[in-house]
Amino acid sequence: MSAALRTPLCDILGIRHPIIQTAMGWVATPELTAATCNAGGIGFLACATLRPDEAERAMTRVKELTDQPFGVNFLMEQPGAAEIAEAIIRHGAKAASYSRSPSKAFVERFKAAGIVCIPTVGAARHAEKAVQLGADVIVCQGGEGGGHTGSVPTSLLLPQVLDTVDVPVVAAGGFHDGRGLAAALAYGAAGIAMGTRFLLTAESPVPHETLKRYLAASVTDTKISTAIDGLPHRVVVNEMLRRLESGTALGRLVRALQSGLAYRKMTGASIPVLLRAALTMQKNDRLTRTQALMQANSPILIRRAMVEGHPAEGVLPSGQVTGVIEDLPTCAALIARIVEEAERRLEALATRGTASAN
Ligand SMILES: Cc1cc2nc3c(=O)[nH]c(=O)nc-3n(C[C@H](O)[C@H](O)[C@H](O)COP(=O)(O)O)c2cc1C
Repeated sequence: MSAALRTPLCDILGIRHPIIQTAMGWVATPELTAATCNAGGIGFLACATLRPDEAERAMTRVKELTDQPFGVNFLMEQPGAAEIAEAIIRHGAKAASYSRSPSKAFVERFKAAGIVCIPTVGAARHAEKAVQLGADVIVCQGGEGGGHTGSVPTSLLLPQVLDTVDVPVVAAGGFHDGRGLAAALAYGAAGIAMGTRFLLTAESPVPHETLKRYLAASVTDTKISTAIDGLPHRVVVNEMLRRLESGTALGRLVRALQSGLAYRKMTGASIPVLLRAALTMQKNDRLTRTQALMQANSPILIRRAMVEGHPAEGVLPSGQVTGVIEDLPTCAALIARIVEEAERRLEALATRGTASAN
């Protein structure tokens, strides 16, 4: 393997290739996570949509499927967050990823246990704050990325973040191939992180009907909307999004209450626990009361498409990159192809440099 591909990210995490499979609620299952790890990258298990007992079982399953380093993602405000954090430590995860507003206490607990802290940020000032709180590596996600996302494209955000912090920075938002990896390394990044590309693999748990929607989408078929949970969320435009965007205020309130009830059933959390989680989110993320009320829409509507297989009735978080993805390779084939292509690009550039110098 080319020396350029052996980056500080590989050394910090003990992995062969500088490639992260990011967490995706309902999608980054133990199977997908372990497949990435076995292929030489690092997968992050999605626990933001799981109860602590489910998260615990999922971590056990990852360890049954791989002996390679793995990561875990969760929301520091979710019900049962403290139990999930302890499970992450107990199960010997290599890294923890989180976004939104990190809690200093959680980060300190992870660092004391030797867990690599890798938050995702969408703005340079958030990267600075995350490092002050103890982040070891920053994933910086440009606006073309899937799920909750900012508005600055990767090509502008990445250099800004690289100029702001002195820890390794991993580029996310719009990556799917070896050209992207070579370009990210040329910027000075320590690797790439991909969500949508891993959603579209053979090990993805997403039902076929929903995968078909992703494969059929073009690069202009996603948009950033605040109609789902009040925060900017990049998703595939579908029937549900149109309904949410054209609904009345009363309709939005009814939908939020329905989701809240379904979320309560899903988490098994009591109403005081849920209210506390909503209030913490409202305070930490500076949400309005309406935004806080809408928070349960995301997990519930995403589950409808990603788990129950009804793409028209749910929400499909997606990067714009879905528009250039047309296949469902295994994680091993995908990673091998990305690494091989990046090596070829870097070699071609190096040769061109030598040729013009001579
Ligand atoms: C279906 C889906 C679900 C996601 N869920 C989460 C999540 O639970 N937690 C999180 O931190 N990020 C989540 N994200 C964001 C991804 O982890 C990642 O940062 C993003 O997909 C990168 O951009 P890309 O899709 O262009 O590769 C999600 C993204 C997608 C596409």
